[in-house]
Amino acid sequence: MSQPVQTPATFPTRIFSGIQPSGGLTLGNYLGALKRFVEKQDEGIETIYCLVDMHAITVWQDPAKLRQQTREAAAGFIAAGIDPARSVLFNQSQVTAHVELGWIFNCVARMGWMSRMTQFKDKAGKNSENVSLGLYAYPALMAADILAYKATHVPVGEDQKQHLELCRDIAIKFNNDYGVNFFPVVEPVIEGAATRVMSLRDGTMKMSKSDPSDQSRINLTDDADTIAKKIRKAKTDADPLPDSVDGLKDRPEARNLVNIYAALAGQTPAEVIAEHQGAQFGTFKPALADLAVAKLSPITSEMTRLMQDPAEIDRILGAGADRAEAIARPIVDQVYDIIGMIRSRRG
Ligand code: TYM
Repeated sequence: MSQPVQTPATFPTRIFSGIQPSGGLTLGNYLGALKRFVEKQDEGIETIYCLVDMHAITVWQDPAKLRQQTREAAAGFIAAGIDPARSVLFNQSQVTAHVELGWIFNCVARMGWMSRMTQFKDKAGKNSENVSLGLYAYPALMAADILAYKATHVPVGEDQKQHLELCRDIAIKFNNDYGVNFFPVVEPVIEGAATRVMSLRDGTMKMSKSDPSDQSRINLTDDADTIAKKIRKAKTDADPLPDSVDGLKDRPEARNLVNIYAALAGQTPAEVIAEHQGAQFGTFKPALADLAVAKLSPITSEMTRLMQDPAEIDRILGAGADRAEAIARPIVDQVYDIIGMIRSRRG
């Protein structure tokens, strides 16, 4: 995996990112990804955002729930500030370029690379003989999601870093194998105070939509009371907040709450510590709960409003898919030419 990195300088800046509609959106998804998707859009950069339903089915999904969760995630994006007129917003399965390029990348990626993916190892656990082939191949499809648009920058949380390194390796190997400078070598954009929001029950585990305990996470659909209760009950230690960020080093739960506060308030953890040093959790938690409710409640109510018109959400996703297809189709057609496929149906 140590081939020379090619510069993406010849590729115009384009942002792509995706979220799986395999459960409700969590505070981790919001702070680590969605909130930053909105910032990128508002900076005026070309932004393409995708609900990756084809990734979701790497683990069995109830069809009715998958449809509902996809719509709900779309509502979450819009409620959080994604403007479907300025960003391209769509669900993956409506643009077949993803799976076409995904197959080609299955033939570029090496088994050894895939076997090193820690997320696969974590998800498969001891059950690796029994999980789907799709779960194993998933990072190659993720690379296809990004490269079907020649995206150059990908905002994600910390947990996706290794998948983006694989995307870089696939781009480099494709370019080398075919003697082209066709795909950009993407830059992961992992920024801010909340690149890894941890479980509220265990500060060493990632906050995740698949955690069996609902108390471990804040869902974007939680009402104000539930959010406040979950924060009040969050696991902490007995000490007051330290007087410097260094003092959080061996205190994962305290660090997590400070990071969440910082990300919600648009501050750095150092600024939060400067304001709250010496505070007991009996004081800090209610302050965090108030902040979380103030920031999340408007999103939750807008989501609920948007969900009353599922046809309108489907219309938005369809229009986004048309725009996505217009970008991806010519790129994937060129890939077919590069790799030597006969394309005699065209003109
Ligand atoms: P997914 O659906 O697990 O998560 C979506 C985004 O949310 C971020 N995230 C978090 N950030 C901080 N703290 C957390 N606890 C937390 N949990 C989740 C993730 O890092 C991610 O940015 N493979 C991807 C989806 C995907 C994708 C792509 C992403 C498919 N194709 C192409 C970027 C580009 C995934 O499963 O994310």
